[in-house]
Amino acid sequence: MNVPDIPAHVAVIMDGNGRWAKQRTLPRQAGHRAGVKTARRIVEACARRGVGVLTLFAFSSENWRRPSREVGALMRLFVEALDRQVDELHGNGVRLMFIGDRSGLSDTLQARMTAAEETTRDNTRLTLVIALAYGGRWDIVAATRALAREVATGRLDPEAIDDAMFADRLALAGLPDPDLLIRTGGDHRISNFLLWNLAYAECWFTDRLWPDFDEQDLDKALDRFRGVERRYGRISEQLEDALEDDAC
Ligand code: FPP
Repeated sequence: MNVPDIPAHVAVIMDGNGRWAKQRTLPRQAGHRAGVKTARRIVEACARRGVGVLTLFAFSSENWRRPSREVGALMRLFVEALDRQVDELHGNGVRLMFIGDRSGLSDTLQARMTAAEETTRDNTRLTLVIALAYGGRWDIVAATRALAREVATGRLDPEAIDDAMFADRLALAGLPDPDLLIRTGGDHRISNFLLWNLAYAECWFTDRLWPDFDEQDLDKALDRFRGVERRYGRISEQLEDALEDDAC
């Protein structure tokens, strides 16, 4: 059993934009703008280090509860970020995907998201998944509905449902589960992010605010990942046996 040096999939809860702006007596929106710049740098840093998939939590189902002015400004910022960055991401071999409930998003934003996915669909250097209007519970409920519909039509035997079949109906279907979760901004919570997919992820929490997060911070998280033994419920001795088998 090979323990990889670099996680195949890194997921990030980017927290702290508002506090970063407040520390500088700037409007919260300035923090979000700085956050977009950090995201762009971290995408490139992950690609250079060989991370295959990077999932960024940009807007949660719960973020709709923020003041409508902030929500509106964030939505405009997403459109602007896509307008400015898709060509460059495409040129750098990045495939873009979006997960979340698109129904509440503006037509303009939805159109940009679909166009970005189509333009970049054949890129293979790094898959960048943006979770937008995403919630882990929403994802699980949607997958359950999909399975229930198949059962209702008689195409699926409920007894045949297993982990893999369930995972295939989730938003990240077809992608590996995150090996590493990074959360900035000091809180130690999953906040309804990828509830199913994070089951075995290593979690790395930092007080750094997202706009301040840089490549050195990323490397600290990756070093920590390298240093851990992932047992998936087994004991250490079983992993040593598996490593010996691999070497044979
Ligand atoms: C978290 O900080 C930030 C958000 C939930 C907003 C969206 C994220 C960005 C604009 C960064 C990158 C965007 C893309 C498209 C990849 P917060 O507002 O919760 O900060 P606070 O906890 O300090 O108030």
